[in-house]
Amino acid sequence: MIQYSDPPILLRDVIDDVGEVLRLLERVAPYTPLGGWYRPGADLDAATSPMWFQNDWVHAGVRVEGSELFLFHESVMQAARDFYDAALICPHSVYVNLMAALAQSGPAHTDNPRFQGRDRSNTPMWLLRAMLWSGLFDEQAIVQATSIWWLNDVEGGAFRYWPEGPGKPPQEHLGAMANTALVGDNHGMFHQVGPVGPFGRGTRLVTPRAELAPLAPGSKEWAVSDRGKVCYQAPLAEIRVSVLWKDDVYRDEAQRRRQLAEPLSIPDVARIFDRDLEEKGADLCFDLDRLEDPGLIAAVNAIYPEAIPIGKAPSIFDPA
Ligand SMILES: [Fe+2]
Repeated sequence: MIQYSDPPILLRDVIDDVGEVLRLLERVAPYTPLGGWYRPGADLDAATSPMWFQNDWVHAGVRVEGSELFLFHESVMQAARDFYDAALICPHSVYVNLMAALAQSGPAHTDNPRFQGRDRSNTPMWLLRAMLWSGLFDEQAIVQATSIWWLNDVEGGAFRYWPEGPGKPPQEHLGAMANTALVGDNHGMFHQVGPVGPFGRGTRLVTPRAELAPLAPGSKEWAVSDRGKVCYQAPLAEIRVSVLWKDDVYRDEAQRRRQLAEPLSIPDVARIFDRDLEEKGADLCFDLDRLEDPGLIAAVNAIYPEAIPIGKAPSIFDPA
């Protein structure tokens, strides 16, 4: 099953010149509301999105100029090597979250897994997660380290995490978060963003078309524009800004080569599940023509359920 790693490593004074990050943040604006996994099929003209904005700085073929500040940060890379006692790390992603006025927490979750030859580009998300929770593919998992770095201290905005596994109470990183980073295993360790201020008016909602950007070039004041109007305005210092970094982790070059050379096909995945289902005596087999079928998804999830971490707070994305 899932192996819970050590608690994440806390780094302080991570970025020497935070002004560089401020310039990068402005250059890459505007930012758009989080979509994807938690909000499939959102109506573009309905104000249903919380003010949780996210943009990629490094992803697949994209690398924003200046993002090397995070992508190849020496202390973060060393912390990842130390955390996993690994010789080889390959940084591949950097993205930024900006949040304000979230009356409830984000979802308690583990980050999306990857396996040899299988990731979001070629495999349904539910299947990747079932592969993780089944524990049947641990050998083929691509281990990834994550660093989360915070720009500032805002009202609320705790980082809650379960370093001892989902069955033990969570811990929180809150207060003096500015210019710190936590480096660890967010793919094995549950984590959750706490409510973010300002509080008192509930979670403010915008449409998926909304954009967050400086009010004017060089301004410390930022604003959310939605359907042609400014609907929220605050100093950047009051917006929770975090930069996430991910890398692949390998014991050594030989392991990297082996993992690259042995991709799992979908029929391989089905075969491995089917063998286990048979051993379990489950009345279910993996029908490759039904990978989008909610009935198959529910049946597989019932046999390989995700853990629910104790002490998790309600999420802004929970069904009403
Ligand atoms: Fe996460």
